[in-house]
Amino acid sequence: MLSLGVNVDHVATLREARKIDYPDPVQAAVICELAGASSIVAHLREDRRHAKERDIRLIKEVIHSKFNLEMALSEEIIDFALHIKPAQVTLVPERREEVTTEGGLDVLKVKSKLQEVIPRLKDKGIKVSLFIDPISSHIETSKELEVDSIELHTGRYANAEGKNREEEKEKLREMSVLAHRLGLKVHAGHGLNYRNVQPIAQLPHVEELNIGHSIIARAVFVGLERAVKEMLQLMNPAHT
Ligand code: PXP
Repeated sequence: MLSLGVNVDHVATLREARKIDYPDPVQAAVICELAGASSIVAHLREDRRHAKERDIRLIKEVIHSKFNLEMALSEEIIDFALHIKPAQVTLVPERREEVTTEGGLDVLKVKSKLQEVIPRLKDKGIKVSLFIDPISSHIETSKELEVDSIELHTGRYANAEGKNREEEKEKLREMSVLAHRLGLKVHAGHGLNYRNVQPIAQLPHVEELNIGHSIIARAVFVGLERAVKEMLQLMNPAHT
């Protein structure tokens, strides 16, 4: 079975649109888990535009599945993660002006920082994943850094059309094979929705998809439980 990690950031985005206390991403996390999600994902951004420390603490406390904290290489957030100890940290790049995480982490550029941060996280029993573009040198460097997994950025695939989309899919397939051969677990995500998820779900060696915006958006119309279940059915048609 291909696992689904649901990113609940956009429940917090809706809350922050009014700066009040609902809807609560913590309640959303519980519903996602009950609907079959294997993990819950939240991104504590430096500008706190959606999830806040309180959300991260409570999600970690109430869910029984894996909690995957997305974060940038910021000392303040690293200290927070070392204190909270999520099951997994996914290191992502972050730019304040971006609407969402736009590209993968340039692991070559920040290699020395990663060499310092990854052992600190692993010493606390936290699994480490790197959100990277499907580029062979980035996968080889991730292996050198001894992370548990990589998450392949599917944004370019999601935004491409026709032949270009096929090319992006092929890149993801080849890089998934390479990562698996090197002994890395392969996850994927970003920009996946109910129309484009299936070819990615069929890629070899991909064990987990992390999906946020499309599920929360669909939940507005059909409810969160159904939105999660429908995504799981598309990802695992043989099991439903
Ligand atoms: N994976 C990572 C590492 C991300 O940064 C995000 C966006 O927060 C996602 C998956 C989910 O992307 P989307 O909201 O487009 O499904």
